[in-house]
Amino acid sequence: MCGICASIGNDNQIRNVISGLKTLEYRGYDSSGVALLKNGKISVVKSVGQIKCLQEKLADELNSKIVIGHTRWATHGKVCEENSHPHLSFDKKVAIVHNGIIENFEQLKKQLPNVKFYSQTDTEVFANLIASHSGSNIERLVKASKMVKGSFAVAVMFENDNKIYCAKRKSPLYIGFRHGQVMASSDVSAFGENFDYFYKLDDDEFAVVTKDKIDIFDKDLKLVNKAKALFEKAPFFDDFSEEKCFMKKEILEQPIVLKRTFFKYFSEKIIDETTLTKIKKFKKFHFVACGTAYHSALLGAEYLREFAKKDCEVSVASEFRYGFQNISKNCLYVFVSQSGETADTIACAEMVKQKGAQTLCVTNVPYCTLNNLADFVLPTFAGKEVAVASTKAYVAQVFTMLIFALLISGKDMEEELKKFALQFSIKALPDEVLNSALGYSKIFFVGRVADYVTSLEGALKLKEISYINCIAIAAGELKHGTLALVDDDTLVVVVSTREDLKEKIENNIQEIRARGGKILLLSQFEHHVDVEYEIRLSKFMEMLMPIESVVQLQQLALSFALEKGFDPDKPRNLAKSVTVE
Ligand code: M6R
Repeated sequence: MCGICASIGNDNQIRNVISGLKTLEYRGYDSSGVALLKNGKISVVKSVGQIKCLQEKLADELNSKIVIGHTRWATHGKVCEENSHPHLSFDKKVAIVHNGIIENFEQLKKQLPNVKFYSQTDTEVFANLIASHSGSNIERLVKASKMVKGSFAVAVMFENDNKIYCAKRKSPLYIGFRHGQVMASSDVSAFGENFDYFYKLDDDEFAVVTKDKIDIFDKDLKLVNKAKALFEKAPFFDDFSEEKCFMKKEILEQPIVLKRTFFKYFSEKIIDETTLTKIKKFKKFHFVACGTAYHSALLGAEYLREFAKKDCEVSVASEFRYGFQNISKNCLYVFVSQSGETADTIACAEMVKQKGAQTLCVTNVPYCTLNNLADFVLPTFAGKEVAVASTKAYVAQVFTMLIFALLISGKDMEEELKKFALQFSIKALPDEVLNSALGYSKIFFVGRVADYVTSLEGALKLKEISYINCIAIAAGELKHGTLALVDDDTLVVVVSTREDLKEKIENNIQEIRARGGKILLLSQFEHHVDVEYEIRLSKFMEMLMPIESVVQLQQLALSFALEKGFDPDKPRNLAKSVTVE
C-alpha cells in the first residue's frame, strides 16, 4: 500500500512533504521517511510510527528545496527503519520512494550479484537497478522500469541533480503545479490548497520535474502532451473540526452527507435520463466490493431487487477475482469503493472490462483508478473520509444506491427521501447501554436481511477499532451452529427494523436468552420479549432504517475504542486504502 509525496520548490520543502504525507496516512502509517538533497548530496531520515514521529526527528537545521517522502504499510519485510523508505542504491547516489509491489524482485536481485541489500523490501532493488544503468537519469529510470514486473508509483532523486523523476504502472501518481512549486503524490489531496492544476500519469509514463516545469514522457522517451486537470472544490465540512478524532467528526457529518446526496441526485440531477435509460436495459447487476463497501453493496443489491425487480448478485472482490466467472454482456458489473483505489476491486473491474462487459463504479473520490475503468460512475458525496473505519462513506453509499434503485425502478419517492434527508439527526448512544456493553468480551450481532447487513457492518466496525472478537450472523442461522457459543457472558446485539419479521426475531431472542445470552435490541418498535438493554431507533420508512440503525453501531464501536484508549482513526495493522492484494 503506502503513499508517496515529493516536492520541489523555491524554498524548504520538508514542511510541504510532511503535510502531504499526513494526508496520505490513510494509505499506511507504520513508518515513514524522507530523502533530501543538500549541496548535491542525498540525506535520508526515517522513523517507525506515524508521521508525527518522523516530524519530531527532522532537526531544524535540515532543509532542502527537493524532498521525496513516503508513508508505509508493510508488505515485504517487518516494520523497522531498514525497511522504511526512501531506499538508497548501493552507491548512495539514487534514492527512491515506492508504492506498489515488485513481483520479480527476487529474480532481479540475482541479476545484481555484487550488490549488498540492507532491507527485506522489494523496493531496494529498484534503486539499485536504476544505479546499475548508464545514460541520462531519465533513461536509467526508464531502463530499470522495463525490467520490473508488478505495480509501482515511484519518485526518484539523484545525487547532484536538482530534479525529481517519477514513473508509474498500476499504482496511482499525480503531479501538481503551482507557481514556484511542483509536487508528486499518490493522491491529489496531498497537494493542499492553491495548486493551479495537476496531471494524472498513465501507466508507463515518466515525468521529469523541476520547480517550474513538468515534462512527461512515454516509455520511448517521447514527450507526451497531457491535458491539465483542475481541482474540484472540496465540500464544506468543517462544522465538526473541533472533534478530537476524525471518526467522531465523520459520524457527526452524516446528516450533512445525506442532504448533500439528496441535493446532488434530485436538484442537480447528476445522472441524466440517457444514462438511466442505458442502465435500465441491463437484466442483471453483479456487485463487487471489499469490506464496508461490500456491505453497502449487499444493500444496493437488495434495493435493486426490491424496487427495480432486477436480478442481482454480490461478490467480495478477492473471491470474485479468482472464482470462475461467467462474465455476461447482459450484466452490469457494479464496483463499490470509497477510495476507488482498492487493489482487488480494481483487478476485478479490469478483468470484467477485458471480457467486454460494462462497469458502473460507485466511488467517493473523483480522481481514482476505478473511475477510469467505468462506463458509468455513480458518485457518492461523503467528502474526504480520513478515519480508517468507514462511517459516512458507508452511509453515503447506501443512500446513493437506494436513490439509484428508485431511479431505475421509475418510482417517484423524491418527497419521502427529501423528508428523511432533512430530518435525519444523530442520536447519542444511551450511556447506560454503553456502560453495560463494555463489560462483555464476547459480542455477536444478529439480524435478518437488511438488518443482517447492518449487523455485519456493526461487527466489522467494532472489531477493527476495539479489537474485540465479534461476529455477525444471520439470525435464522444461529441454531445451525453459533448458538453453541452463547453463554452467560455473551452479549448479542439484535437489529430488528422489519416489522413483518418481528415474531421471527422475537423467537431468536428467546433462543439466545434461554442459553444465558444478554440482548441489546435496536428497533423502532416494541417487542414482546424481555431484553437487557435497548436502543430505541427513530421511525423512518423501512428502506431507510439501515442508515438509522448503523449510526448507533458506529457510535457503539467508537465508544468502545475510546474507552479502551485506542486510537479509532488509526487502528493497528490496518490502512484506509488497501492498494495491494
Ligand atoms: O476504499 P474501499 O471502499 O474500496 O475500501 C474497502 C475496504 O478496505 C474498507 O471498506 C474497509 O473495510 C474499512 N476499513 C471498513 O471500515
